[in-house]
Amino acid sequence: MSGLSVKHLLGIKYITKEDIELIFQTADTFKQVINRPIKKVPSLRDITIANLFFEDSTRTKLSFELAEKRLSADVINFSSSGSSVKKGETLLDTVNNILAMKVDMIVMRHPLPGAGQYLSKNIDAVIVNAGDGTHEHPTQGLLDSYSIREKLGEVSGKKVVIVGDILHSRVALSNIFSLQKLGAEVKVCGPATLIPKHIETLGVKYEPNLIKALEWCDVANMLRIQMERQDVKYFPSLREYSQQYGLTKSILDRLNKEITIMHPGPINRGVEITSDVADSDHSIILEQVENGVAIRMATLYLLAGKIDQAS
Ligand code: CP
Repeated sequence: MSGLSVKHLLGIKYITKEDIELIFQTADTFKQVINRPIKKVPSLRDITIANLFFEDSTRTKLSFELAEKRLSADVINFSSSGSSVKKGETLLDTVNNILAMKVDMIVMRHPLPGAGQYLSKNIDAVIVNAGDGTHEHPTQGLLDSYSIREKLGEVSGKKVVIVGDILHSRVALSNIFSLQKLGAEVKVCGPATLIPKHIETLGVKYEPNLIKALEWCDVANMLRIQMERQDVKYFPSLREYSQQYGLTKSILDRLNKEITIMHPGPINRGVEITSDVADSDHSIILEQVENGVAIRMATLYLLAGKIDQAS
């Protein structure tokens, strides 16, 4: 296969298993590059990328910027706070003004689901979705599956449980699509109020009991409660959530097997995961962050080949 089947990365739903495998193979090469004394390659020397963040971010924003710089792209950063968005400028006007400065690719995080799709239909640049509301976070889904492949040898046949606020999580949806395309089995676990009503239509089973979910799985991906997206109460209190769904060292010690622990960050220590679990040998949380740079380098490199075709 010569390249990706898509012009934009808007979600894992829209790419193929072959696309994911190509991104992983390319990321393997870039992971070697970023572990060398000289961590930079000239691959995107003639490309200009704008990182547009309309919502807060630490990992994704820095990881994309570093990936772009490691590929020698020219980079500009925009965040909606302190911008003319505050004066009423529309998303399309903002992006068209940025594109007038001869920008080739847009990396965008936005609170509205579908913001990337909307842009892709109205502008010429290649779009990479860096998280759109409760919809998808495709590079997170890719880096999570890549980290499982690295830790366990392959994704196919593995059992992965995603625990927590599935209802508001773009990470959950991108993980479900990515893991299933690669042949893993996925369950979700958490309070029934935080599970989407028709989750089974995605081929995902719901396990309400955390201990049973952990006994079943090879990998547990612990998600935080997204308080900023909750306008009503979905459970009595964080303390009670933590008692039922928080992962502790004593729970892990009682399992008669070793499992791999993941978390996309930011962690709420003591709520969905205790510090002794997050910082333990079972955890690959910082490996996920490290792999995020290689996965984003691979994604940007492969999509750069689509720049002239973008519509
Ligand atoms: N995992 C993730 O998206 O983290 P940030 O919100 O810090 O980018």
